[in-house]
Amino acid sequence: MSIWTPSSWRDFPIKQQPVYPDIEELKRVESELKSYPPLVFAGEVRDLREHFARVTRGEAFLLQGGDCAESFSEFHAANIRDTFKVMLQMAVVMTFSGGRPVVKVARMAGQFAKPRSTDTEVINGVELDSYRGDIINGIEFTPQARRPDPQRLIRAYNQSAATQNLLRAFAQGGFADLKKVHKWNSDFVASSPQGARYEELARKIDESIAFMEAIGINSENTSKLRRTDLYTSHEALLLNYEEAFTRVDSLTGDWYDTSAHMLWIGDRTRQLDGAHVEYMRGIQNPIGVKAGPSTNPDELIRLIDKVNPENIAGKLNIIVRMGANKVQEHLPALIRAVEREGRHILWSCDPMHGNTIKSSNGFKTRPVDEILKEMKQFFAVHKAEGTYAGGVHFEMTGKNVTECLGGAFQITEEDLGSRYHTHCDPRLNADQALELAFMIADSMKEAR
Ligand code: PEP
Ligand code: CO
Repeated sequence: MSIWTPSSWRDFPIKQQPVYPDIEELKRVESELKSYPPLVFAGEVRDLREHFARVTRGEAFLLQGGDCAESFSEFHAANIRDTFKVMLQMAVVMTFSGGRPVVKVARMAGQFAKPRSTDTEVINGVELDSYRGDIINGIEFTPQARRPDPQRLIRAYNQSAATQNLLRAFAQGGFADLKKVHKWNSDFVASSPQGARYEELARKIDESIAFMEAIGINSENTSKLRRTDLYTSHEALLLNYEEAFTRVDSLTGDWYDTSAHMLWIGDRTRQLDGAHVEYMRGIQNPIGVKAGPSTNPDELIRLIDKVNPENIAGKLNIIVRMGANKVQEHLPALIRAVEREGRHILWSCDPMHGNTIKSSNGFKTRPVDEILKEMKQFFAVHKAEGTYAGGVHFEMTGKNVTECLGGAFQITEEDLGSRYHTHCDPRLNADQALELAFMIADSMKEAR
């Protein structure tokens, strides 16, 4: 294999990239980004890899979730807090009912760039560049907004830094204290069956904490009761940005992508000889690869060997996103190839991206029932193969949005228009996410 450098991807064919009209400006922005402080520290990334290794061995469970696309306009403390809250709720449900530690990874603080199915969009005979995420261009359908603007890289970095800062404060500063378990329930969820089920579980946690305090274990002497770890992740799509944050760790001399703890390659950019695979093979971060229905088992093994040649457990997460009713057809062959070759893989399920449909009134949406179905099929296939279903990967928000169909509040096609806020794919709202967490906890219990 050729020599890897943070910029060696530039010699490979690349998909899903913007064409910047002003290359000189792009270069200036890239060199400015290279001088900015990293968003995460290599030591944290190594800790996450250790957690991933535990998940790979079946000792823990991975919960990854957040926005499809972060945006400049939805950048508010309340949005960050509410997504954090729903992640805490889901994790506590899975830990308490499922009986395994949960590793929490947010799609936040850098999840901006989006792959698109077409390079341009035509409305009323006018053709413009497709929207590729706020780090690249604007969502408004005007020539000015759709023009890729390098300054957006800097704004995305600054927003990511502020988001990361608040997430750290929430995780470490007392918000995640198990004594506040009731406060994580949002008002609109509290009135649903999930909300009630959650309250019941929270009461049991209160009782357990009271018991622990009685025997001398409390949040003063046991920081785990008061603090948590929330790691960050995004799709490593815009490699100019990732390259700028690829730094040598002074402790080990190894290369890390310091824009997030974990990065993944999307289903549209996982070509064996492509730029994205080239970039990802050189960094020490744990990485993900999305695997859709077109994934070929032999190709997958070659891809695994390229990005994880030393077969390190905890390095590689295959994120399966087949779509409901396609899991049985495609997943067993992938698992069998991996088992036959003895590769260490953390398998997780993204039940979102294979279940996107268009509603009759024109909204991109996803039925919660199909999401549930794909997840159940994922657990069932792993059970049948004797392998470990290690995690889930969701697009969700803590807000009371109406983007996915169904759930306890029975969101219908007519409801979609009322609070449809996503800049890209439809997200689960907090209530729908909690419903799935209970289902996952049941499957975890069953698998034990
Ligand atoms: C995503 O995770 O937002 C995404 C685009 O997924 P995929 O690459 O699986 O389509
Ligand atoms: Co998406």
